[in-house]
Amino acid sequence: MLKPTISFLVSLLFAVPALAQQLTYRKDMRPLWEAKCAACHGAGSPYLGEFEENKEKFKAMSKGPRMDTYADLLFFIAWPDAGAMMRRLDDGKNTKDGKPGNMYLYLGASDKERQENLNRFKAWIGKGAWNLKRREAITSEELRRIEARY
Ligand code: HEC
Repeated sequence: MLKPTISFLVSLLFAVPALAQQLTYRKDMRPLWEAKCAACHGAGSPYLGEFEENKEKFKAMSKGPRMDTYADLLFFIAWPDAGAMMRRLDDGKNTKDGKPGNMYLYLGASDKERQENLNRFKAWIGKGAWNLKRREAITSEELRRIEARY
């Protein structure tokens, strides 16, 4: 009785990576972003250019640059602020100093939740596209790996 159940669970485990390929902004990332990021990056936040002109003021208000639409979010993944999302959300496995990016902590209340949500971001952005390089360094071949489906 127990055996089929376990093998069923194991088969589910292996099915997860395949499912993960299908993540979309509307179905998966928008709700995650709303739960974890919207409070500081929503419609009440300034666009990056404006944020940069008055960084200290906005930081004091706990406001980061605005990224409340699909297009605005892509701005921090692909272009022009290539890799910003990856640099800030990485858990330290890909950063130069081995420390997590300073937005990693907002991915969840526990390490388990943070890892799960980090993996969601990674799967959504695309296989081999988790790249922390800045736009001066990133290649067009690396940019083409970004999937980030709508
Ligand atoms: C409590 C407020 C807060 C939350 C929640 C938050 N952020 Fe931020 N975020 C900031 C502030 C303030 C900055 C700007 C200061 C800095 O650069 O660290 C920032 C900066 C960033 C940047 C860098 C933008 C750039 O290029 O300058 C990214 C990317 C980012 N956040 C993504 C996220 C994501 C994704 C989430 C959700 C998982 C998130 N943040 C949650 C406050 C927050």
